Amino acid sequence: MKIKKVGVVGAGFMGKAHCVALSNMPKLFTDAPYVPVFKTVCDIVPEIAEDFKERFSFEKACTDYMDIVNDPEIDIVCVCTPNDSHAEISIAALKAGKHVICEKPIATKTEDAKAMAEAAEEAAKKGIVSMCGYQYRRVPAIDEAKKIIESGRLGEITNVRAQYLQSWSADPRSPLSWRFVKETAGAGTLGDIFTHALDIAQYLAGNVTDVVSMVKTYINERPVQEGGVDLLGTVKLGDDAKKQVVDVDDEVSVLCKFDSGAIGSVEATRMAWGRNNYLTVEVHGTKGSLTWNYERLNELEVCYGMEDNDGERGFRKIYTGPANPHGDVTWNIPGMNIGYGELKAIEAYEFAKAVEGGYQPTTSFTVGYQLDRVCEAVLESNEKKAWVQVK
Ligand SMILES: NC(=O)c1ccc[n+]([C@@H]2O[C@H](COP(=O)([O-])OP(=O)(O)OC[C@H]3O[C@@H](n4cnc5c(N)ncnc54)[C@H](O)[C@@H]3O)[C@@H](O)[C@H]2O)c1
Repeated sequence: MKIKKVGVVGAGFMGKAHCVALSNMPKLFTDAPYVPVFKTVCDIVPEIAEDFKERFSFEKACTDYMDIVNDPEIDIVCVCTPNDSHAEISIAALKAGKHVICEKPIATKTEDAKAMAEAAEEAAKKGIVSMCGYQYRRVPAIDEAKKIIESGRLGEITNVRAQYLQSWSADPRSPLSWRFVKETAGAGTLGDIFTHALDIAQYLAGNVTDVVSMVKTYINERPVQEGGVDLLGTVKLGDDAKKQVVDVDDEVSVLCKFDSGAIGSVEATRMAWGRNNYLTVEVHGTKGSLTWNYERLNELEVCYGMEDNDGERGFRKIYTGPANPHGDVTWNIPGMNIGYGELKAIEAYEFAKAVEGGYQPTTSFTVGYQLDRVCEAVLESNEKKAWVQVK
């Protein structure tokens, strides 16, 4: 089988997610175009890079991503660093002829997102592939939802409601990591999780053209977590910890108009006690509706309202499995289920197919840039307290 050598930049939470996915991808998908081989891992913290190298059997560890960019043996670069370094690393890798999968949000500033999309479009002329880590649209239930919408059985789509609710920063003792600092994160909940809900809403209902929004920060300072990876609220620091100002949002609520003519809302917060990874979407059409929740990611609920008899009308549950999109990763037996690990493997498979076929995947940097422009409009609307058109 063909192999492709991989460099991973950033050995934290997502570095792990990418490596688990890459190593599982050819095991789950028997028609995988290649087997990824781990060449070099880079992290600015040398101990993290070394530990990661050992655990994932990389050949080399380094602290400067240019060692990966300049290595002619490396075909693929995974960019898993905090948001402020995505542009610099991705553009350097694309220019060096590497295929790049970069985590979301694409960048901290719209001009960087634009530069990334331009670099990706230039590289695409030579068959180089770029992808952003918006993996939730690849959940089999969401792809099934798209098929149902496109079949017309729900009629014309009138309304889409998407939400992403988490709780990990609801506790004021949750430490201030890079995710709460504008310089490194760009935005708070907006870039971090709102973009995932927005991506699903747009995947199902078309691009957002206009927004009116409210963006709010509830906890204005937090105890500082120094160095290392973001512990995502798993550690609580005491009252005596050094504190720093939070300069990004905690919560975002947005009303949207879609280019398909649908209207709807997208909301996100990291401060909803009791909600862990509550990413949901509900779509209403003139003939029926569907609803999905990541916390039950293998289930899609559909109501074919106009087809059902009065008195029998309601949501039916489709328990996704081998008969649904990407059924190959569901172990060929109905009810075996998939989770986050398999989802990232689906993403790695779609990336691999794009690399092999020389085409841009549906979550290319161009799409990442468009999502960034919606976020820019959300912030502008909040400031102006008015509807804003997406540029
Ligand atoms: N798609 C998803 O579901 C998802 C989930 C979580 C995070 N993310 C995204 O993944 C990215 C990384 O987040 P994370 O949760 O892994 O963060 P993390 O804090 O767990 O890990 C980041 C790692 O990058 C290292 N690093 C920082 N700057 C670097 C540089 N210039 N060069 C090399 N290493 C560097 C840090 O030392 C750390 O080990 C972010 O863009 C985040 O938004 C995506």
